[in-house]
Amino acid sequence: MKSIILAGGSGSRLYPLTKVASKQLQPVYDKPMIYYPLTVLIASGIREFCLISTPHDLPRFKQLLGDGQRWGLSIEYREQAKPEGIAQAFWIAESFIGKDSVALMLGDNIFFGGDAFPRACAAFRSGATLFAYRVNDPERYGVVEFGVDGKAISIEEKPTHPRSHYAIPGVYLYDNDVIAIARSLKPSPRGELEITDVNNEYLRRGTLNVVRLSRGTAWLDAGTSTRLHEASAYVHSIEKRQGIKLGCPEEAALHRGFLTVGLLEDLLTTMPACEYRDYLADVAMDARRHGQRGA
Ligand code: G1P
Repeated sequence: MKSIILAGGSGSRLYPLTKVASKQLQPVYDKPMIYYPLTVLIASGIREFCLISTPHDLPRFKQLLGDGQRWGLSIEYREQAKPEGIAQAFWIAESFIGKDSVALMLGDNIFFGGDAFPRACAAFRSGATLFAYRVNDPERYGVVEFGVDGKAISIEEKPTHPRSHYAIPGVYLYDNDVIAIARSLKPSPRGELEITDVNNEYLRRGTLNVVRLSRGTAWLDAGTSTRLHEASAYVHSIEKRQGIKLGCPEEAALHRGFLTVGLLEDLLTTMPACEYRDYLADVAMDARRHGQRGA
């Protein structure tokens, strides 16, 4: 499975923070926001990425992440010239997807805890797999309604009167049919190719699977200055309490076997003296101690 990370949009709700750097490059406590979704995908066993952003912001992402090789990944880049909808990502990344299945992740979605994503990626065969998460304010999201048998029966984008409290987070797994489905979409009244229209087509075909995320999973939204601050505070408290880092791509790549300890140690020599390097040095030492992939 390959993955597209969509990091477009103008980030107008975070203005003036987003005047020079896009939303997904803003700090969530001690790392750029994009590190968090990237880490979730790496931890799910994905190592081929296509990052889509605006022509203005793409150079910054390239500067930050490069071609991914130093983390044992491959990262390609594509431009979304105008904000014409999430589902446009499949047109833009068509040559990247090729004949594969694909995980689409929105670059401002932050998750912690649980093993729902690695499990769903490993189990994925065909159709579409979405996730559902109970929230207080479903009207801000795509909303899924479940029937008595627990199966999804309707999906609506930002409904005024939501039929359930279950929002659909911005991580989606699709088989290769998604390209043709996205190609057949017409823009919605707000002029966008809606991801909800893609999901409804899978629902209509009877090949949609929705996994409810458990209580132990945190899904944070960093779309406004207040929520960005809350996400930072959350990361800070967990990191301080547990002495671990959330959203650390190098660590996830090591644990997935994409990086060897030796390569991680080489990486450390390219970093300035900082807390992040000290943390990774401990991760590398721990891995050596436990005889983990020491080459
Ligand atoms: C988008 C999707 C929505 C989904 C949300 C998750 O909304 O359209 O269905 O629930 O992402 O973050 P947006 O963030 O573009 O308003």
